[in-house]
Amino acid sequence: MTARDATGTPVGLTVSAFASLSLDPPLILICLNRDVHDLAVFHAGPFAVNILSEGQQALSRRFAGPREARFLELEVEAARNGCPILPESLAVIECRMESVVAGGDHDIIIGAVTSLRCHPEGRPLIYYAGGYNRLADAPPTAR
Ligand SMILES: Cc1cc2nc3c(=O)[nH]c(=O)nc-3n(C[C@H](O)[C@H](O)[C@H](O)COP(=O)(O)O)c2cc1C
Repeated sequence: MTARDATGTPVGLTVSAFASLSLDPPLILICLNRDVHDLAVFHAGPFAVNILSEGQQALSRRFAGPREARFLELEVEAARNGCPILPESLAVIECRMESVVAGGDHDIIIGAVTSLRCHPEGRPLIYYAGGYNRLADAPPTAR
C-alpha cells in the first residue's frame, strides 16, 4: 500500500489484509494495525494498492522493514492520483479514502477505486502460513 505524505514524501508498507468489498460502487478494504507509522496518511488518502507479482518477495520484505529503506533507489511511477506505483506490480488499484471502521487493534480502511490497471500475463506473489509461495497451475477443468 503506497501514498504520499503532506510533504510529498512517498510512504508505504506491506499488507496482506486486503480484500475486495463492493462492486457497485467499487470498494476495497485494507486492515492496518493502529501502530502503523503512517496511519494518518492512509486515513486521509488517496492511496494505491500494489499487488505484487511472484518473485517480488524481496520487495514485500523491504516494505515490512525499516521505513527509510523502503523507497531507496526504487524507480516509482506516479499513479493518476499521485501515489507511487511500485515497479513490476501485477496490478495497481488507485483509491480515494471512503471511510475507516475500527476493528480491534486494527483500522479497516475502505477505499473507493478510482482507477485500476492489471498485467494479464503475470502471476501473484502468495503469502501463506508465514511464508512466500506461488500460485500452482490449475489442473485442467472438464468442460
Ligand atoms: C507478508 C506481510 C503481510 C503484512 N500484512 C499487514 C497487514 O495486513 N496490516 C498491517 O498493518 N501490517 C501488515 N504487515 C506488517 C507491516 O508491513 C510492518 O509491520 C510494517 O513495518 C508496519 O509499518 P510501519 O513500519 O510503517 O509502521 C505485514 C507484513 C508482512 C511481511
